[in-house]
Amino acid sequence: EKGGHEYFMLKEIEEQPEALANTLRGHFESGRIILDEQRISDQDLRDVDKVFVVACGSAYHSGLVAKYAIEHWTRLPVEVELASEFRYRDPVLDRDTLVVAVSQSGETADTLEAVRHAREQKARVLAVCNTNGAQIPRESDAVLYTHAGPEIGVASTKAFLAQIAANYLVGLALAQARGTKYPDEVAREFAELEAMPAAVQKVLSTVDQVRDLGRRIADSKAILFLGRHVGFPVALEGALKLKELAYMHAEGFAAGELKHGPIALIEEGLPVVVVMPSPKGRAVLHSKLVSNISEIQARGARTIVIAEEGDETVRPFADELIEVPAVPTLLQPLVSTVPLQVLAAEIARARGYDVDKPRNLAKSVTVE
Ligand code: F6R
Repeated sequence: EKGGHEYFMLKEIEEQPEALANTLRGHFESGRIILDEQRISDQDLRDVDKVFVVACGSAYHSGLVAKYAIEHWTRLPVEVELASEFRYRDPVLDRDTLVVAVSQSGETADTLEAVRHAREQKARVLAVCNTNGAQIPRESDAVLYTHAGPEIGVASTKAFLAQIAANYLVGLALAQARGTKYPDEVAREFAELEAMPAAVQKVLSTVDQVRDLGRRIADSKAILFLGRHVGFPVALEGALKLKELAYMHAEGFAAGELKHGPIALIEEGLPVVVVMPSPKGRAVLHSKLVSNISEIQARGARTIVIAEEGDETVRPFADELIEVPAVPTLLQPLVSTVPLQVLAAEIARARGYDVDKPRNLAKSVTVE
């Protein structure tokens, strides 16, 4: 049932191209983005003046990624908030607010309560969910299903990639309704999304390299993750995977914050994973990250660099280089997250832990 894999998580990591393809299928017909159970009218979508994404854990990270795309495409302000914080403050919500509640299980108590709070305040709530008929979609105005298939491993992998894709569909639907993107631009963005299953399939060819790396750094005390722009939430996700599976101290940072504190953590031999932007797509950020890597390497860190294939500038500073295919900037998280999932799983396995059932965690968290 694990399809010949030592652990489910690896099987689920390898199912990611399919999860993405299934999530996108049927959502672009006759030149238009179509959402699923659309109980929010086009007029309502046009009237949206603010977007909140509320979620927990990895689902929250999928929202952080989507903020870059949705703001860029729609020119609407997007706030991404941990569901457990959202409802205990007094968020500004009204009928022109779209709240996107992202949840693999659809049963997460904090996210469900955030949905209830948003609806009481008359906001429109759209659930992005991987589980048919779960409570969160039942209590939402509309739902967009991720079709990642059941996720057995406690750590989210294929559902996370599918959530990013689904959140992007929400962004494109908003851009289409608001007219901030021309129909041909929406079509092009969708076509780029459709090319992602093949790109993710290509990244899977790094699995053996990353597993080998994982075994070599499995006895580290801590690992840091750095990224910028859409690479920042990827760094957070990489760190979360490592904490929950390998019980290792891990932190994700926005690379620009390094000099504001975290650089003090760098010491001889500390592995630091750096998620590089494309040298072409984000040249300015790329060169800033190259100088960050050289700084931390000079202070003795062991640099593990996830970079676009053919990015030669980064090679001298990478103690370990993991190459991912070139894809449009906003879609990079779909490829750069994959090696971080494998790394966390393999470090956990090498440390003797049950990758599919990390201690103290449950697949769906139905208590607050
Ligand atoms: C991390 C992980 C959790 C979930 C979080 C939300 O690997 O799996 O952080 O992402 O508990 O769960 P859902 O998406 O079911 O609401």
